[in-house]
Amino acid sequence: MKACTLVPGDLATAGVEEIGEPPEADGEVLVEGLFVGVCGTDVEIAKDGYGQPPPGHKRLVLFHESLGRVLEAPADSGLATGDLVAGVVRRPDPQPCGACAQDQWDFCRNGEFTERGIKAQDGYGSERWRVAPKFAIKLDAGLGPLGVLLEPTSVVAKAWDQTDAIAKRAFWAPEHVLVTGAGPIGMLAALLARQRGLAVTVLDRVTDGAKPAMVRELGATYVTSLDDLPAPPDVVIEATGVGPIVFDVIGRCAPNAIVCLTGISPGTHAIELKADAINKMIVLENEVVFGSVNAGLRNYQQAAAALALADKAWLAQLITRRVPLAEWPRALDRQPDDIKVVVDLQA
Ligand code: BGC
Repeated sequence: MKACTLVPGDLATAGVEEIGEPPEADGEVLVEGLFVGVCGTDVEIAKDGYGQPPPGHKRLVLFHESLGRVLEAPADSGLATGDLVAGVVRRPDPQPCGACAQDQWDFCRNGEFTERGIKAQDGYGSERWRVAPKFAIKLDAGLGPLGVLLEPTSVVAKAWDQTDAIAKRAFWAPEHVLVTGAGPIGMLAALLARQRGLAVTVLDRVTDGAKPAMVRELGATYVTSLDDLPAPPDVVIEATGVGPIVFDVIGRCAPNAIVCLTGISPGTHAIELKADAINKMIVLENEVVFGSVNAGLRNYQQAAAALALADKAWLAQLITRRVPLAEWPRALDRQPDDIKVVVDLQA
């Protein structure tokens, strides 16, 4: 079967490779791959050598954002032939650490976790793949190709889930949410915030293209400068990974705000930080700033429910480019109007 493979850090090696059928050791559920989504992590793997192939392999089957159709599943798995599924990215470390022992692999403490398509495990960028039933998340059939958005939505669902957990510390009646960055993570964070009935502002630097209109269609406000915020936010979901924005935002929040950082960037921005002033502000305002990576099983379920509820026409606008399997390396080249680029594994 055909697969999207490369040697991490060597973009020139990216191509379609004929590989064997998916190993049974990957799990009892056999899936026909439909689409994979491309994110910054894939670009980092290809260009900067982030991630690693499975032990003993030179090449990695890329992609961790998946969508497929079940070809075979055990009778007691809750899955049937034809079901739409997406695969979970992370696997617990084999030791396992305390968190992984409780299936909280997204909180792995020793760093020995593995990730499909990223770290020491082949990904979902192949015509067929296998997973254990536990790692196959069933999607609403009505989502069709939009189901490929499940994994980025799971990352956002975790951000909200963690925000809720932190919010239990005291009286909490949030009204205003700020989302920084109108890429897929920012857009999906704004969607989940609107599903909660909150007033949402999305910040991004672009003034044209699909993003401003999509934000408005959600019933949210679009701004290109933090000076234009309608109100100090109670919750911030930061999805740019740009350091100066992170620190600027910390200084503009409402008392008791919760700031969730989901993005990272290869940038090397150097800014002068008024460290004492930032410390004072965080202390005197009970502010919480926390990081969030990956997602646990319940976050995948929350994400599947959120996508099932969402307006499909709005979600469809997030997928701005489809690249056929044969030309998949083109999907790694960022175009100015890209939001989510997907590879069509059937084309
Ligand atoms: C993925 C996460 C993963 C992280 C670090 C992100 O792009 O969405 O699932 O844990 O990269 O490898």
